[in-house]
Amino acid sequence: MSYVSLLGRPSRLFLVNLLREERGQGPFETYPYKHLLPEIFPTAETHQPALQDFEHVDPGHRALKHPNPRAFLAGATSISHLTPAIGTEVRGVSLAKLTSDERDELALEVARRGMMIFRGQQDFIDAGGEFWKEFGSHFGRLHVHPTGGYPEGLPEIHMIYRDQQTIYYESDKITSIQWHTDMSHERQPPGLTFFFLLAYPETGGDTLFASGVTALKKLSPAFVSYLRTLKQVQLGVDINVLNRGGKRKRYSRRDCVTTVHPLVRRHPVTGEESLFINPECTQSIVGYKKEESDMLLKFLYNHIASSMESQARVRWEPATVVAWDNRNCLHSALFDYAGTPARRHGARITPQAERPIPADPTLDLSA
Ligand code: SIN
Repeated sequence: MSYVSLLGRPSRLFLVNLLREERGQGPFETYPYKHLLPEIFPTAETHQPALQDFEHVDPGHRALKHPNPRAFLAGATSISHLTPAIGTEVRGVSLAKLTSDERDELALEVARRGMMIFRGQQDFIDAGGEFWKEFGSHFGRLHVHPTGGYPEGLPEIHMIYRDQQTIYYESDKITSIQWHTDMSHERQPPGLTFFFLLAYPETGGDTLFASGVTALKKLSPAFVSYLRTLKQVQLGVDINVLNRGGKRKRYSRRDCVTTVHPLVRRHPVTGEESLFINPECTQSIVGYKKEESDMLLKFLYNHIASSMESQARVRWEPATVVAWDNRNCLHSALFDYAGTPARRHGARITPQAERPIPADPTLDLSA
């Protein structure tokens, strides 16, 4: 990997690495996944046009017609549900070896369970970037993150990286928890999503999940009927926020997107309704005054965060790949390993899906 940017200057990552090595955290040279560090960040010169709408055909639909839509799990040595609401852990199934039909079945099963943990996936991880792209493309058009860094040649693979120099907590926040759904501000947000860690702390650094389906079911029918009538405004990565009030300089690959989405969406394959909110992107309820909108969103965010019945937690083990349906659950990483020398480094494959379908078909999203 070159630590020199396209402009011939030392890249930001190179300087960050030098700093780490000076502080005794390196050497990065012996880190086996250094070629997968987020290296290429957007610059003022690499601005791209807006994403265009595309027709999404959900692979889960095809699996509905299979004689046994769970056939891909036939070789599993163990299958256990983490909680009734969300999450299933599977051992003994190689994601890398799934046939096209089995990939469709995987899409359906993840849609039904919200999130699935697949252990023992070293072959998937070792297969590398070109395979990850081919695999992810089966499920939808691969999303390129507007602001994230990617390794050389892999713009479609979103890398996350945190160590002691890069863990940050907002100075006025007491927790690192940030419930969100990925890139939900896009007109066609991601659906089935794959994520794996290449390095992680011995303890800590878990990922938390919350089912928007269960969260919705816990509310009263009258309240749900009312929520179905609402639309929200979502805003993409706000570059001013990213630059932390001028403390650093980051760019976006594309212009910031503002989108109107239903507050309750229907899954195109399972038909289930889910609460579709994103504390990172949801700005307001359409037509409401600020205080009204803030009050309702605060209630819904608290509901997601405090409903342990809707949640499950992934503890990372070697060679784990987690798949989730970004349409019907929220997640949060947990940065509880400050003060340890651990690094947390992972890759996300993020296929986009359909434009969110309102649970109420009469809801007009153009207005
Ligand atoms: C993500 O937010 O997509 C990554 C989750 C994690 O870092 O655990």
